[in-house]
Amino acid sequence: MAASVDQLSFNAIIEEISRNFATIRDVFALLGALYAAKCCIQSAYNLYRAVKVYVLPKLWPKQDFRTKYGEWAVVTGASEGIGRSYAIELAKRGMNIMLMSRSHAKLEKVAVEIESMYDVQTKIFPVDFNNHDCYERVESALSDLDIGVLVNNVGIMYDRLQYFLTVSSERLKQIVNLNIMTTVMMTRMILPQMVNRKRGAIINLSSGACVQPVPAMTAYSAAKIYTDYFSRALGYEYYKDGVVIQSVQPFYVSTRMTNFMKPNFLVPDADTYVDHALKTLPFTTRTFGYWSHGLMGFFGNLIPEWLFFWSTININVPIWNFFVPERSDEQSKKVD
Ligand SMILES: NC(=O)c1ccc[n+]([C@@H]2O[C@H](COP(=O)([O-])OP(=O)(O)OC[C@H]3O[C@@H](n4cnc5c(N)ncnc54)[C@H](OP(=O)(O)O)[C@@H]3O)[C@@H](O)[C@H]2O)c1
Repeated sequence: MAASVDQLSFNAIIEEISRNFATIRDVFALLGALYAAKCCIQSAYNLYRAVKVYVLPKLWPKQDFRTKYGEWAVVTGASEGIGRSYAIELAKRGMNIMLMSRSHAKLEKVAVEIESMYDVQTKIFPVDFNNHDCYERVESALSDLDIGVLVNNVGIMYDRLQYFLTVSSERLKQIVNLNIMTTVMMTRMILPQMVNRKRGAIINLSSGACVQPVPAMTAYSAAKIYTDYFSRALGYEYYKDGVVIQSVQPFYVSTRMTNFMKPNFLVPDADTYVDHALKTLPFTTRTFGYWSHGLMGFFGNLIPEWLFFWSTININVPIWNFFVPERSDEQSKKVD
């Protein structure tokens, strides 16, 4: 008896479901249509962003940054790599350049190179940003300058991809100092004059290594997401004051940091990278800077976190450690 009552109620449920089947099907169809619409809008937006950030800037005529932002550009970590290339590209756009890093000789070489190519002034200021008390000296060196562009470029990575506990405490301190502290202190120093003049641009070098948290680059990747968040929120605070803050997120670029990997379409040399990245400044406040890095960032964001972590440890670590052999502490400290 109980079984047939159960059977009856089961049949009633099935009948009810069948009666409402059309409605349920319609609801699912509506959900499907909404999801498809979301995907279409998202794809159209991504395409629009790709054209705006990677195509339009290539076609746009070079701008005179001196008129647009101010007379001087300050570049940290300017003696080589990405920083040196930013200094050259900014000089190409009419700006005088203040170059900062540790090595007097390397800075002088870049300054001479710039002045021989462009009709601009340069100044050099040798400084070790690992010294916390350097900022007063830096501030007085900059006090007379009308600074229109600040490139917070200085930064270091581990010497190879490695687990957190195998990195020395000294190196971890430097990673936090150079990637975070220097950006914050230089911005605190220079932003007020930009706000007063209602113009200026601050370019902060974040990294593709923070599209997701990256094991074996843990402290570096976390430091670079700090730079990205810092730039985005600060940009919102000060855009009404005419100051643009841009977060730049390169993947691999052939520099000393990556042991001068052979350049290719995925790993541009610093000049090629910066030529692309700087052109994006009037178009976006956040960029991977180079078209193939844009594609890597797009796919990097899509990969589920567990797969990203797994592939970092099992694919990225062997590749990096093959191309970028371990440097001794002495080599990485070396100032030529
Ligand atoms: N290369 C890449 O694949 C890549 C990828 C993503 C993000 N980035 C970021 O891009 C930025 C530049 O990277 P890069 O590859 O051009 O680096 P790099 O070739 O190693 O150059 C680093 C620059 O920083 C200076 N520097 C190092 N330690 C310093 C200190 N304690 N005080 C003052 N200056 C110091 C160096 O000059 P001195 O030796 O004369 O001091 C040099 O000019 C970094 O923030 C990095 O994290 C690079």
